[in-house]
Amino acid sequence: MSKVIRVVTLTIDDQEVTGREDETILTVARQHDIDIPTLCFLEGLSGWGSCRICLVAVEGVPKLLPACMTYCSEGMVVHTENEQIKAYRKSILELLFSERNHICSVCVSNGACELQALAQKCGMDHVSLPYRFPSYEVDSSHNLFRNDHNRCVLCTRCIRVCDEIEGAHVWDLADRGINAHVISDLNAPWGDSETCTNCGKCVQVCPTGALVQKGTAVAEMHKRRAFLPYLNAMRGNHG
Ligand code: FES
Repeated sequence: MSKVIRVVTLTIDDQEVTGREDETILTVARQHDIDIPTLCFLEGLSGWGSCRICLVAVEGVPKLLPACMTYCSEGMVVHTENEQIKAYRKSILELLFSERNHICSVCVSNGACELQALAQKCGMDHVSLPYRFPSYEVDSSHNLFRNDHNRCVLCTRCIRVCDEIEGAHVWDLADRGINAHVISDLNAPWGDSETCTNCGKCVQVCPTGALVQKGTAVAEMHKRRAFLPYLNAMRGNHG
């Protein structure tokens, strides 16, 4: 017998809204034009919940919860913005900026980068933490694309789109904590990958200038994502 999905009523930012109990706070908020910033989340891919930019406060819950991974429930009262949330978002962005080499002025994604846009939106105008300035390699072995680990935020969108949409599963995460990084195949240069189909979906969903097309100069890389809703709709029709 199939499970019955109930419609629930909840309050988001003093607005009474309805959603399904299998929908997240983020989904329902966006359905009602309530803005919650996100980074690792991308419509059409599975939820991951790693960046924590989408943190919201739920009354009765002592900690902030990620809106992209928290399901709605009857009577829930959600606040998407207060001083604590704003401070957390800024801190998360500062951590991301200090962890790798996000030098916007020399990035091909300058002006079209989700990390940069989030910093502007959340008012993160300086980094109060010491920069780590790591020296990560730039993998230019692929004849069409480039992977600059220095600009990666480990959102795993590339891993998810390649696995869930393209079905190739070229990408994975290796190592842990500060040493975590994406790898292609079993840590082979991207250009030597036997599984990569050269589709470029990973490049298009990457929020920063980590995965980019070769031949783009500063501020020239604009990602195109129109394929995602289209492919998802096709998948729904045939799934
Ligand atoms: Fe929700 Fe990243 S967008 S945790």
